[in-house]
Amino acid sequence: MKDEFLSWVLGSLVVGDAVGGVGAAITAIVVHLNTAAARALRERVRFVNQTFSRSAGFDRGFVRWKLRLDRIFSLIAAETLGAGTVVDLGCGHGMALCFAAYGDSTRRLVGCDLDKHRIETAREAFRNLNAEVSVADVRHFPLPPAKLILILDVLQYLTAEEQLALLTRCCSALEPGGKFIFRVHDCERGVRSAITMAFDRLLFTCAHAGVQPLMLSPERYRSALESAGMRVESRRFRNRLPLAHILFIANRPPEEKAL
Ligand SMILES: C[S@@+](CC[C@H](N)C(=O)[O-])C[C@H]1O[C@@H](n2cnc3c(N)ncnc32)[C@H](O)[C@@H]1O
Repeated sequence: MKDEFLSWVLGSLVVGDAVGGVGAAITAIVVHLNTAAARALRERVRFVNQTFSRSAGFDRGFVRWKLRLDRIFSLIAAETLGAGTVVDLGCGHGMALCFAAYGDSTRRLVGCDLDKHRIETAREAFRNLNAEVSVADVRHFPLPPAKLILILDVLQYLTAEEQLALLTRCCSALEPGGKFIFRVHDCERGVRSAITMAFDRLLFTCAHAGVQPLMLSPERYRSALESAGMRVESRRFRNRLPLAHILFIANRPPEEKAL
């Protein structure tokens, strides 16, 4: 007993730590997957996948994989998306519009993109929703008054002046209490930023965009929003792929009640 005592004590500490660690990790994963927020996110994702379930195989797969890999959707789901008109500029397939329509199929969804195929796919998928999606240029698209405006990965296609003009127009179109969310590349994150820009340059070349992606500094975006009377938050975030982005969330203050 005396000879083995120390080994037993040490052994039980090591084995206890290992078993306890595994148990804690499993508990943490189960709890994480079952929080109300995680369940709500899964439901939203299921809704979007179902909406595109009759689209062509490539588009259906694109939607499914983008939902899996792009953390933007969990970040958007964590925001209060409110009710009322949603506008998505450069909406692509319209996944973010669909995401915002979860739980309210009468919500008015307005989107535009230059890509005819994506707009056609969105139109077909949204036939049971209150959606108006069209092939149009964000630079001239007439904005309706809206509670939520989204621009995800599109600003870099525009010149600096066009980007700032569009931001100002969006702020003016927001109703009191409305929210304007846009995402841009983060150019200050070393290797991740280099990969993000290289990936985008490749996309621009393949799409024969005829321009190179252009990002403004975060301060310039922020000051444009603040000059338009918005309350601004910005969040740097890493994606599941090695890409670096910044999410800007600008809130139009609710109208003050007359005394
Ligand atoms: C990277 S994709 C993002 C699509 C969508 N926002 C999303 O997050 O899934 C960029 C989109 O912007 C569109 N786009 C680029 N310049 C545009 C413009 N001037 N007007 C409208 N759409 C534009 C492209 O056709 C493309 O679908």
